[in-house]
Amino acid sequence: MPRKIKTNWIVPKGQPLTEMDEIILDWQARGYLVPKRELIKTPEQIEGIRESGKITNGALDLVAREIKAGMTTEDINRLVHEYTLDHGGTPAPLNYDGFPKSVCTSINDVVCHGIPNEEEMLLPGDIINVDVTTIYKGYYADASRMYIIEDTYPEWKRLVRVAKECRDMGAAATKPYTFVGDIAKVITKHAHANGCTVVRELCGHGVGLAFHEQPDVDHYGVRGKSGMLLVPGMVFTIEPMINLGGREVFQDEDDGWTICTEDGQPSAQWEHTYLLTPHGLEVLV
Ligand code: MF3
Ligand code: CO
Ligand code: CO
Repeated sequence: MPRKIKTNWIVPKGQPLTEMDEIILDWQARGYLVPKRELIKTPEQIEGIRESGKITNGALDLVAREIKAGMTTEDINRLVHEYTLDHGGTPAPLNYDGFPKSVCTSINDVVCHGIPNEEEMLLPGDIINVDVTTIYKGYYADASRMYIIEDTYPEWKRLVRVAKECRDMGAAATKPYTFVGDIAKVITKHAHANGCTVVRELCGHGVGLAFHEQPDVDHYGVRGKSGMLLVPGMVFTIEPMINLGGREVFQDEDDGWTICTEDGQPSAQWEHTYLLTPHGLEVLV
């Protein structure tokens, strides 16, 4: 039976084939998932995302300076919200699919999408992910970091470090014309080598002109060349969620957002927005 081919990559009529077209058309003809042309950002769009990323990064730096035990997650929301507006940006999470706040704050066993609130106070020993996405002149820039409140258990510190290494090793392995699944393999191998697990239900994503674009950037490994072919000019996040216990997670039924580990063990996540250049990934924020 002939394999059904998804024709994402189209060369405009009369336009001569570039070397890039030829490589992509070849993978496409062999049945692999390739990007649509509009996922290749223009230099102007890349500059816009980079500018937006300065606000995201500035907000995360501000959180790094201010965060301490006794603060509430609503205090973090206020910091990020005001910093973003002061710099001419809009916080992308606010009202996104009904999300009620300007930033995600995810403590300990909360994997991601934690909703800031007045009642939730940071305590010594907590580990928290703060995930900031800015819209500036229509361009989206998405990044998150972990913060340790004072000090914590050696195992939790190791988890925070391993999660960062997973992201950075996945990024370092990414070259033009590799596949999303190649990133996932590196991440999964490093997590498992350190006795940690990789969350499957949430992924990284294309970003820039919208909050979540193609491709899905899965972080767990499967065999073969899985996911989308990665082509210079694509902009996407890598943001693995790494668990100290099992990989299973559930969503809070009451708020419809908060994702927690099933076993109550902690989870850690670091996120950058990257540009794929001819040489590899460049951090935009
Ligand atoms: N910033 C998250 C990401 O990395 C998405 C948060 S969606 C929100 O993709 F609505 F919760 F803000
Ligand atoms: Co993201
Ligand atoms: Co994010």
